[in-house]
Amino acid sequence: MNDRFLRACRREPVDVTPVWFMRQAGRYMEDYRALRHRYSLLQICAEPELASAVTLQPVDLIEVDAAILFSDLLLPFTPMGLDFDFVKGEGPSIANPIRHAADVRRLRAFDPREALGHVLDTIKLLRRELANRVPLIGFGGAPFTMASYAIEGGPSTTYAKTKTFMYAQPDAWHDLCGRFAAIMAEYLAAQIDAGVQAVQIFDSWAGQLSRVDYQEFALPHTKRIFDALAGKGVPLIHFGVGTTAILRDLATAGGDVIGVDWRQPLDEAWAQVGHDHGIQGNLDPTVLLGPIERVFSAADEVLRRAGGRPGHIFNLGHGVLPTTPLDHVQQLAKHVHGLRLKA
Ligand code: CP3
Repeated sequence: MNDRFLRACRREPVDVTPVWFMRQAGRYMEDYRALRHRYSLLQICAEPELASAVTLQPVDLIEVDAAILFSDLLLPFTPMGLDFDFVKGEGPSIANPIRHAADVRRLRAFDPREALGHVLDTIKLLRRELANRVPLIGFGGAPFTMASYAIEGGPSTTYAKTKTFMYAQPDAWHDLCGRFAAIMAEYLAAQIDAGVQAVQIFDSWAGQLSRVDYQEFALPHTKRIFDALAGKGVPLIHFGVGTTAILRDLATAGGDVIGVDWRQPLDEAWAQVGHDHGIQGNLDPTVLLGPIERVFSAADEVLRRAGGRPGHIFNLGHGVLPTTPLDHVQQLAKHVHGLRLKA
């Protein structure tokens, strides 16, 4: 098996830097768009044959060192009793968002092995289809990011409703995040049992919080998930956007590898996290829209900052944008593989 991704997660030496891309399957790919003409995003997620085919598209087309399960962060909402759908051009929309403590108490606990059994079936199918070509990454959401979608009802720029709920109803907030932590720990353990070989926990919007608020309102809940998964024998990646001010706290909450965005140079982020952790990142996804020479030089800069130290996984600082040229992504992966920077 190509195991350089798993080796880097464990901070072991590798032949060349492993690379994969958040949202490596998606709208920038013609094959994906063709499938989306026939099926909704939720239909693809619900059907193991389709979700598996989409997961494999980038593995076939791009020199990536890992596959990431094609699914969505918000799938657990439905069995919890939060009705959601994706609205074209707007993203997720929750019909009955959480606004009061009573809404939290109405949420249902569920067994992910039943309610999300189709995701686990996709994982089993993928492990067979991948046949150890590259490892498979599973994923889930950290409580703050999950709660922010549940409360906002959709995307937000200020997270005003989320923060107001947090400050005004702290008991209900902790109840809500405790439920997300319990569900996510179970769901991710089930993904590991089904066969994922690494797990990434997305706390995409944690960077919206001040450091003290992160410590009070998010960290203890995220930590419960990492603590529950720590003995499972698979590497854990902890990712957030705009987390420069809270990187040490993110590492305290858990994760063998910390995923960072592009705002801070990689070496500075790694020093802050501590070299006893791996680091994942951190090319600005927008760079891929520009000239290929600029893509290469920006990638070189990321690798120079990683300094050949074991434990770097090359990725973008966030997901591939829908307008990205596929050949830039292909050339970038090849370029990263062609370089070996010594410390
Ligand atoms: O990375 C991958 O290739 C795996 C697939 C994946 C999807 N969602 C499929 C998807 C992953 C890892 C996710 C995680 C996810 N989902 C996150 C965390 C990652 C992040 O971006 O910070 C979040 C916040 C969500 C919720 C979500 N799903 C939003 C906000 C949106 C709309 C945003 C947009 O780009 O339009 C989605 C839709 C979604 N999930 C798409 C994909 C490929 C868009 C494609 C489509 O509509 O067909």
